[in-house]
Amino acid sequence: MIIAIDGPAASGKGTLARRLAAHLGRPHLDTGLLYRAVARAMLDRGEPLENPGRATAVAAALDPDHLGETRLRDREVGEAASVVSAHPGVRDALLAFQIRFASRPGGAVLDGRDIGTVVAPNAQVKLYVTASPEERARRRLRELAAAGEAPAYETVLADLRQRDDRDAGRAAAPLRVAPDAIVIDTTELGPDEAFAQALAIVTDRVGA
Ligand code: C5P
Repeated sequence: MIIAIDGPAASGKGTLARRLAAHLGRPHLDTGLLYRAVARAMLDRGEPLENPGRATAVAAALDPDHLGETRLRDREVGEAASVVSAHPGVRDALLAFQIRFASRPGGAVLDGRDIGTVVAPNAQVKLYVTASPEERARRRLRELAAAGEAPAYETVLADLRQRDDRDAGRAAAPLRVAPDAIVIDTTELGPDEAFAQALAIVTDRVGA
């Protein structure tokens, strides 16, 4: 059983994916980390993010089995990831690994932007997790505060809107609701309620 979870930044999809995977005893892949690892390597080497050739070479050389999480969660890395992820060559270089992960016997839970549309179009369960930009900005602000950063709410909101526009506006695998995805709007839902909704959908779809 493949469970594909897509949605914009700070929508709660990562938390939901991790919880579902743990509950169902399935492996989980946060595909954003792949793009973040490419971005981190580009930043560390001082490479221009807009250069598709360099970004594609970095993506092709990435060892997705040994990413580590060092400094991948930083705010600047998320922004940079959304720039490098728009290069079709980068996406192609990372696709085979994601398809292999999704095809594991017993299935898997993957979250990202294009799982239900590109990586696993045949997934048995497709969820699109979203929330209002304002609520997502408040959540992101809380995460950043916990990590010792204190940007202004307006800055975080503007960053999120810019990232939404970039992820949905690019030509290669843009962020879209797959036609057969079920939308979970978490604007007014806590993590437990979102999880309960998602689990009910999974159970209904596959009798898990
Ligand atoms: O989900 P996360 O914020 O870690 O993703 C960072 C960036 O990586 C996203 O803004 C998006 O541009 C890119 N991404 C993508 N496709 C995915 C996962 C992430 O393009 N499946």
